[in-house]
Amino acid sequence: MRTPIIGGNWKMNTDRASAATLAEGVLGAAALHPGPEVVVFPPFPYLLPVHEVLRRPIIGGRTVHLGAQDVYHAEKGAFTGEVSPLMLRDCGCTWALVGHSERRHVIGEGDDNVNMKLRSAIAAGLSVILCIGETLHQRETGDTNHINERQTRLGLREVSPEQLTRIVIAYEPVWAIGTGKTATPNDAQEAHFHIRRVVADMFGQDAAGRIRIQYGGSMNAANAAALLSMPDIDGGLIGGASLKAEDFGAIIAAAAARR
Ligand code: 13P
Repeated sequence: MRTPIIGGNWKMNTDRASAATLAEGVLGAAALHPGPEVVVFPPFPYLLPVHEVLRRPIIGGRTVHLGAQDVYHAEKGAFTGEVSPLMLRDCGCTWALVGHSERRHVIGEGDDNVNMKLRSAIAAGLSVILCIGETLHQRETGDTNHINERQTRLGLREVSPEQLTRIVIAYEPVWAIGTGKTATPNDAQEAHFHIRRVVADMFGQDAAGRIRIQYGGSMNAANAAALLSMPDIDGGLIGGASLKAEDFGAIIAAAAARR
């Protein structure tokens, strides 16, 4: 049985005070609804203050994990503006996102870059969420499975089976992100099923059965339960609805009820 994983990607939102308050709310929600693994991804400057909140003990010893929205592939050096995996660990992170669609499509990152970041973060001991997903044009031209397969294969290139156990895939169709348009549970399930088949082809059936694949794209308190009821949807990566502890808590509750 795969443990559901719910991630809150705060993107470029919050300020120092509201980030800490939101983290407190998420801790409370995680304590109320045990079961799912919960990770929040604040902006870089707020990692430390959020870490201070998250390290407080909560009921039952449960934790909310801290993750970074991006990471650079080098350990240190002359890379102005970048942040290394070791720096993230030093600030309390145990997770990092790589290949988020906004990094691919707004910043212009390609699959090679995403793969370098993933391998460097994994080598440094972080767990990684590899984000993939098709654009609206790619969906309309029938390329959804092809794009997901390519981004999965290139993203996971030169990853060992042992390293794969610290990787989660987030299927985030670009047209569903921040638009209020959610993939139907059946469409999302179909994409997840195909992605799992690709992982099976690369790493074998056992590994494919173990890897968690999250859905992301306008997931909210109202639609989470239906999406999470699908057999290959193992959690959610949430943007807008992760900025309110109550809404995010409702999604955690839906994931907890699924188990
Ligand atoms: P929204 O939930 O705002 O659509 O964002 C999804 C996302 O990009 C999470 O990484």
